[in-house]
Amino acid sequence: MAVFTLRGPAGEAGRLILGLETSCDETAAAVLAGGREVRANVIASQVATHQRYGGVVPEIASRKHLENITRVVEAALAQADCGWSDLTAVAVTNGPGLVGALLVGVAYAKGLAWARRLPLVGVHHIEGHIYANFLTRPDLAFPLLCLVVSGGHTHLVYLKDHGCLQIIGATRDDAAGEAFDKVARALGLGYPGGPLVEKLAREGSPAAYKLPRAWLDEGSFDFSFSGLKSAVLNLLNRSRQRGETINPADLAASFQEAVVEVLVEKTRRAAGELAVGTVLLAGGVAANGYLRRKLDQALAADGRRLVVPVPLLCTDNAAMIACAGYHLLIRGITAPEDLNAVPYLPLAGWQG
Ligand code: KG4
Ligand code: ZN
Repeated sequence: MAVFTLRGPAGEAGRLILGLETSCDETAAAVLAGGREVRANVIASQVATHQRYGGVVPEIASRKHLENITRVVEAALAQADCGWSDLTAVAVTNGPGLVGALLVGVAYAKGLAWARRLPLVGVHHIEGHIYANFLTRPDLAFPLLCLVVSGGHTHLVYLKDHGCLQIIGATRDDAAGEAFDKVARALGLGYPGGPLVEKLAREGSPAAYKLPRAWLDEGSFDFSFSGLKSAVLNLLNRSRQRGETINPADLAASFQEAVVEVLVEKTRRAAGELAVGTVLLAGGVAANGYLRRKLDQALAADGRRLVVPVPLLCTDNAAMIACAGYHLLIRGITAPEDLNAVPYLPLAGWQG
């Protein structure tokens, strides 16, 4: 018997969706009404737990999700002032991410969907990040271009319509957020590094250190940040060996400038070639104020508009998962009852 099918109109199933997100180190639950109204957005961060290891420890992350998930969901229901019987669907991230962490959310969502006979939707984490923009501006008109910059992904995605995504560029090595985190660690700033590098960079000069930019082949929309990261690490090592002092704020600012310059230039060029009027920014690095400002200025100079979610909806949260789930549901797309966690779930074409 197929359990997770729609009973009644698809729109009705989207009335009050519970979203769940456990792909990395945030246990998150949200309640979304009518695909746009965030009634609750609860996030239990594990940052304090992983900080002492300088990064996320997958085994610990899974255990923390197990400890947290019940109270996070209950807190979301309380915040939304609703009960189990008010829910009309469950949307959960089923990939990509840490498999043990993903499994906690997927198992919880399947159990709830089974017990309450609710339709279940599996959501791609990156599609969730992209849909955070539809929470901000539900009236977005296609086609759109989205720059996705997170801890694990750097993609330029062309969106022709809902469910019709094409990756036109991706990182060939480190993701932008990963580069921020590694440089933060080398500078002794701690974890997660992105916000700390941004804060330090505010006191430095972006032109102080000459760092490489990887433009790659002519016309390519791909990215590469490992050379830049290595250049920063080499500079720090060399200066230590020679007993020279480095100004950390200047280095943070120069590094951030190098990342942002490439992201902005490639996005600006892609928007021009695809003749897209509105560009979206998504993922944890989208919380970076310098990137937001620079990209907005570059696009505005070309007569284009940038849409960016509020910072809380840029980093991992479940409201974005519920929103992406809503747009799947209203097209009648639900998960099979054997929905599983897929750590390397591909983005383009994943909806078949
Ligand atoms: O989307 P996200 O919360 O998780 C993943 O899906 O990876 O992104 C986390 C990444 C981390 O690498 C973090 O350092 C980076 O986003 N990040 C930032 C900022 N806030 C978060 N990077 C640069 N500047 C920020 N303000
Ligand atoms: Zn994420």
